[in-house]
Amino acid sequence: MNNITYINNKFVKHSNAKISVEDRGFLFADSIYELIGVFNKEIIDTDQHLNRLDLSLKKVKIKYRFNKEKFKKIITKLIKLNNIFNGYIYIQITRGVAERKHEFPKKYKPTTIIFTKHLNIDKKIYEKGVKIITIPDLRWLRRDIKTTSLLPNVLSKQLAIEKNAFESWLIDNGNITEGSVSNAWIIKSSNTIITHPANNKILKGVTRDTVIKILKKNNFNIKERSFNLIEAKNAKEAFLTSSTLSVLPVVKIDNYNVSNGKPGDITKKIMYLYNNYIVKNKNSLAKELKIAWLNQ
Ligand code: PDD
Repeated sequence: MNNITYINNKFVKHSNAKISVEDRGFLFADSIYELIGVFNKEIIDTDQHLNRLDLSLKKVKIKYRFNKEKFKKIITKLIKLNNIFNGYIYIQITRGVAERKHEFPKKYKPTTIIFTKHLNIDKKIYEKGVKIITIPDLRWLRRDIKTTSLLPNVLSKQLAIEKNAFESWLIDNGNITEGSVSNAWIIKSSNTIITHPANNKILKGVTRDTVIKILKKNNFNIKERSFNLIEAKNAKEAFLTSSTLSVLPVVKIDNYNVSNGKPGDITKKIMYLYNNYIVKNKNSLAKELKIAWLNQ
């Protein structure tokens, strides 16, 4: 079956979805994006993602007739057409096609593309947890904007892979901000759960916000504050979050084992709670993952 992609008001075969070489998204990364997880055919936190998309447009001053209901219709249609069970929806909006000059064109028509992808969930990483490395955060100071200008993130993630790790946690001024593609969390021996405050130094993850809401509702002690590498290495447990990874245990930071190198009990509980949230129909992701303890 053909994979269908949306481009500028048209649904076309994915391989026929083309942009101009003079698109400012391509030339300058003058463009923003959103990535929305789909689990068990359910689109997760649609409103929150679309609200952030609208906010990103405003922050980079792309003039756009934003219509949330239209986006909802398009993404629902694509999920059906492309038969996505587990996967994601990718939305990108650029400042359109214009002669290559840095300043905004006087008139422009933004480019909009939306495509979907299937994701095979790797059960092992949830059962065993992952290793992360720490490296300097070399990004700009508007990390709150979900821009496609991602070269420092790309290089950080690549370095992790080259070091046989899953993700890099980035250090700015002594503090861990977030991962190259995810938000970073630690759990102290006092059971306090800590993640960086949502300011210009991190992307305010939708999964991060949802997990905070779930934790508060379940009476966990949660603190949005900076933490440094020493605190992270001495943490009782650690995990990361993103729309494609959900809640993923971290068991090694550089060469230090966290929670004896195995996913900790509190992290498992948070995975269970988040899993329940995303699959309203009784733990189907847990069944899919066949992780026994997730069903406990
Ligand atoms: N990344 N921080 C960064 C730098 C990210 O790129 C992401 C998401 C997150 C988590 O945000 P959310 O929970 O809204 O997915 C935090 C996406 C998945 C990506 O670019 O592939």
